[in-house]
Amino acid sequence: MTKKILMICLGNICRSPIAEVVMVDVLAKVKVDGVVVDSAALGSWHVGNRADHRALSTLQHHGLKSTHIVRQIKKQDFNEFDYIFGMDEENMSELRRLAPKGSKAELLMLGDFGLSKDNRIIEDPYYQKGAEGFETAYQQCVAACTAFVNQRLLK
Ligand code: 4NP
Repeated sequence: MTKKILMICLGNICRSPIAEVVMVDVLAKVKVDGVVVDSAALGSWHVGNRADHRALSTLQHHGLKSTHIVRQIKKQDFNEFDYIFGMDEENMSELRRLAPKGSKAELLMLGDFGLSKDNRIIEDPYYQKGAEGFETAYQQCVAACTAFVNQRLLK
């Protein structure tokens, strides 16, 4: 059965578009078909924009590309998607607050898969100087998406 995964962060221009592209790449590498992956923002600031240029160049550096256009999360997402991933604790409390009662989606923090306890938060790199934080987020996403797919989709 088709599974649907939604990657969430605050702005949908840094972490979640990276996580979306990485999840698609990991699924392709392990030959899991039929999983739909999307991303969205908690906030509305960047709706209609593409990812931050540092996110795009980080992905490009790894041979990947995002064509995602920012959208804001909506109530229906909680019943349409099977898994909704946040990047940090603030994302998770906002997701729990927004989730309609009894909705289908499992709310998970991405870094709870495959990352050590002191590295499980995927920090917001937006206000950091340069692109180093984007590379860190990318590496965290690779480890976490790989672990999630192995633990939850390949069983
Ligand atoms: P993201 O980073 O949540 O990883 O996309 C941010 C991007 C923009 C803003 C905050 C976080 N902002 O406040 O505009």
